[in-house]
Amino acid sequence: MYRLLIRPLLYLLDPERAHHLAFGALRFVAALPFGRAILRLLFGVRDPILRSTVLGLDLAHPVGLAAGFDKDAIGFEALAAAGFGFVEIGTLTGRPQAGNDKPRLFRLPADEALVNRMGFNNRGSADAAARLTGTRDAVVGVNIGKTKVVEEDDAIADYVASTERLATLADYFVVNVSSPNTPGLRNLQAVDKLRPLLASVREALDRASPARRVPLLVKIAPDLADDDVDSVAELALSLGLDGIIATNTTIRRDGLRTDAATVQALGAGGLSGPILAARSRAVLARLRARVGTKLVLVSVGGIDSAEEAYARIRAGASLVQIYTAYIYGGPSLPKRIASGVASLLRRDGFRSLADAVGVDATPGGSP
Ligand code: FNR
Repeated sequence: MYRLLIRPLLYLLDPERAHHLAFGALRFVAALPFGRAILRLLFGVRDPILRSTVLGLDLAHPVGLAAGFDKDAIGFEALAAAGFGFVEIGTLTGRPQAGNDKPRLFRLPADEALVNRMGFNNRGSADAAARLTGTRDAVVGVNIGKTKVVEEDDAIADYVASTERLATLADYFVVNVSSPNTPGLRNLQAVDKLRPLLASVREALDRASPARRVPLLVKIAPDLADDDVDSVAELALSLGLDGIIATNTTIRRDGLRTDAATVQALGAGGLSGPILAARSRAVLARLRARVGTKLVLVSVGGIDSAEEAYARIRAGASLVQIYTAYIYGGPSLPKRIASGVASLLRRDGFRSLADAVGVDATPGGSP
């Protein structure tokens, strides 16, 4: 129904408006009496083979929503009821900001891809904190980034301010240094910049949340050279991080079916969707070869099917995330992927999800 009826209607709208409309409709349903129960009935996945404990969190299944969809933490309960095993909110910045001028989100239907240059439009970390207090029925990761007007040299203070506000409210924490849409942000992936940044966020987490150690992950770009992927892996190990999320969107444009002139006319931004899958898989394999089972690896980038999610798990991902495929595949996608993974685990004789993580990992890191 989604592909035949709802998606063509949403396509009549500008992609950002379509997003707000669809997300608004989901939150509306979730707010109705029994709304969340109905969503759970339609889209929920409860299969014991998919349960796992990752980062100290009990998860019903490993398919999460990637950052950028619910930037301001306005619908994480609705999204969890609608079938996501966990939801990563953000990217949140220290100060509220409007993001780039519109239009800033584009569809490439021939590639089932998106190009976005949103530029961290969000109401800021203090505003989101207010909505994250209290008990909840969802596992929520908090993804933070740098406010655009903050100078690169002052980036740490901006990340630390968000960390102090959100530490006790996050099930896990993510330092995002990989969006292509904030000038200079990706420079923070260089080890000499990344080390003090991650160390400061780790300290701030421990200061702000002395009773519970909040897991800390870093999210990296697919455009890092292999040596830089290795350096981030070493750094994450040496700083005692809990995991790495790979990958964000790419600034590359090669290999697309959409004609080059159309792509070029869209301008700058991060590309997401199946085109990312090969590089995202390669980065995952490389990370796994470097860190083994010492860190949790979260794979994201071009996952659009149970087979692809399962391949990432077998390559070493304990968790996977989707974004673009949710836009193209519709509301039943998380359930289809998660229940498909359960079938594949049973087909291959695994007794639990955890048993399958990394079975295809190769020492050299090539998939
Ligand atoms: C994103 N992504 C993203 N990532 C992040 O860490 N912070 C963010 O604010 C955003 N914002 C954002 C907006 C839009 C419109 C898109 C399409 C993507 C990146 C996202 O979380 C994910 O890493 C990539 O999109 C790759 O996964 P998919 O989309 O190929 O499944």
